[in-house]
Amino acid sequence: MVKTPLPIAILISGSGSNLQALIDAERSGELGCDIAVVISDRSGVQGLDRAADAGLGVEVVDWSAFDSREAFSEAVCDAAQRYGARALVLAGFMRILTPNAITRFPNAIINVHPALLPSFPGARAVEGTLAYGVKLTGVTVHFVDEQVDHGPIISQEAIEVLPDDDADALHARIQEVEHRLLPEAVAAFARGNLVVDGRHVRLRHAQTEAKTG
Ligand code: GRF
Repeated sequence: MVKTPLPIAILISGSGSNLQALIDAERSGELGCDIAVVISDRSGVQGLDRAADAGLGVEVVDWSAFDSREAFSEAVCDAAQRYGARALVLAGFMRILTPNAITRFPNAIINVHPALLPSFPGARAVEGTLAYGVKLTGVTVHFVDEQVDHGPIISQEAIEVLPDDDADALHARIQEVEHRLLPEAVAAFARGNLVVDGRHVRLRHAQTEAKTG
């Protein structure tokens, strides 16, 4: 049975290389989603140009115009729902969504984080990794819950930290992995292949899917 593509909103704050990976996956038919809108928390970022070049709907919800996180979070969800989005993908989005967003998009917000959670949550994960001296870091794709960088983990991949790494070099290798892992996770979600059980996310078997429709 062919499923209707899931309408999603992609949230960005910066260069949008993860957004580009999602756009490319959508165009090649691998994402199982329609990118209904790209929402940025600021104007003038490269990700907005990528969205416009791809002919996508674009909204700027300027976080500095809001006097509370809750109000900003509501405005982001309002924008996503105006475009019919049924899930949010945080692709380098540097703002924290408050619990109202999780209520409005239950089990339907996905984030990519440049470290192996639960190690190094927060905004400066790559710098924190290098400062700590760990030998392995990686990428985590996870559902968003009420706590920062905490929700059930969909996928992870480890990356070696090299002796001469600086933040730029390490982040570049991390992003290569992000650009593969995030679209794969979003595609699995869109096809209904992710089963969430508490903190555990498992991939539904293709055979089970065939049986159920
Ligand atoms: C990504 O590495 C993401 O993990 C981190 O910010 C970066 C955003 O990159 N939170 P881009 O905007 O997708 O190029």
